[in-house]
Amino acid sequence: MRIDGKPYRTIWLAADGRTVEVIDQTRLPHAFEIRALGTLDDAVAVIRDMIIRGAPLIGATAGYGMALAMAEDSSDAMLSRAHDRLMTTRPTAVNLRWALDDLRHLLLPLPTDQRVTAAYARADEICAGDVAICASIGRHGLRLIEVAQRRKKPGERVNILTHCNAGWLATVDWGTAMAPVYMAHDQGLDVHVWVDETRPRNQGASLTAWELGKHGVPHTVIADNTGGHLMQHGMVDLCIVGTDRTSRRGDVGNKIGTYLKALAARDNGVPFYAAVPSPSIDWTLDDGVRDIPIEQRDGAEVSRVTGRLANGAIASVEIVPAGTAVANYAFDVTPARLISGLITERGVCEASAAGLLSLFPEHAWAA
Ligand code: MRU
Repeated sequence: MRIDGKPYRTIWLAADGRTVEVIDQTRLPHAFEIRALGTLDDAVAVIRDMIIRGAPLIGATAGYGMALAMAEDSSDAMLSRAHDRLMTTRPTAVNLRWALDDLRHLLLPLPTDQRVTAAYARADEICAGDVAICASIGRHGLRLIEVAQRRKKPGERVNILTHCNAGWLATVDWGTAMAPVYMAHDQGLDVHVWVDETRPRNQGASLTAWELGKHGVPHTVIADNTGGHLMQHGMVDLCIVGTDRTSRRGDVGNKIGTYLKALAARDNGVPFYAAVPSPSIDWTLDDGVRDIPIEQRDGAEVSRVTGRLANGAIASVEIVPAGTAVANYAFDVTPARLISGLITERGVCEASAAGLLSLFPEHAWAA
């Protein structure tokens, strides 16, 4: 995607072919800064501290994390240490496990002197694969937006509600839930996005709003509790969200608050779709509500808010009484029954085991 006319991805290799560079998402929307990663420790830190985030980008960064580890020391011991350290950084996004298991499976049988080259090549492939997956999700999701547009009166825009950031910042490029929106906008469709602010870290307000703005897509940030009201008044044509882990029966784990939007959508007859790249499907889990691990984060994300002051300085302020207990569940799971369909790179399917297996029959072993 473009930032002020210049094409960017969220992760790339520096000119030396070894150093990995990423956009520091903790600085957005107030500053655009690049972070260089030279070691396994750096890769662990950027995932753990949410310098980068979003399930597909977490997977891609983990792939390069394994390559950086191999460049430091290509022994079996390091391979295993790198896999285990990266695995503990973020518990919910299953793309992390997918990428790490893939790299370990590839590298373990190789002689140590071939591992660095092979690891970088595979990490490159994961990135290229993610771009292709997201572009394909965009093309399939675009048809849903076209259907919504055909139901509108001439001159009316299509209103899409999204939660958190499932745009290009959450992936290598394009995004998942936002890929159809970018494609619709690029084709001249009149689309507008309601952007949930997404407390506690405000990925919607700070990231989704930033990237939609950079691309010129009309959007409006709303407080998290607004979606139900908008849906009651016919102001949302469809919801599209992303996922951090989807179970084989189509339960969608995503940023906390997604479930409440799905409930409101069902009550108001608003179609509710999840954009699901196949590396985000956990074929080993059936009941996502029960079994998708939910990351619990530092309570300070709830008790404090960070933003820019009038003088330009970035400040973090306390918003709850001193000593108040806070809880910070980072994700929730929307049951498949509330989801109108899953937008995958192979097409749109029912949110069910049968629906997913109709597109991914090679996973029939998981039924
Ligand atoms: O905690 P984050 O910011 O990594 O969570 C990301 C999300 O939950 C997004 O909503 C997204 O849909 C999943 S990644 C495309």
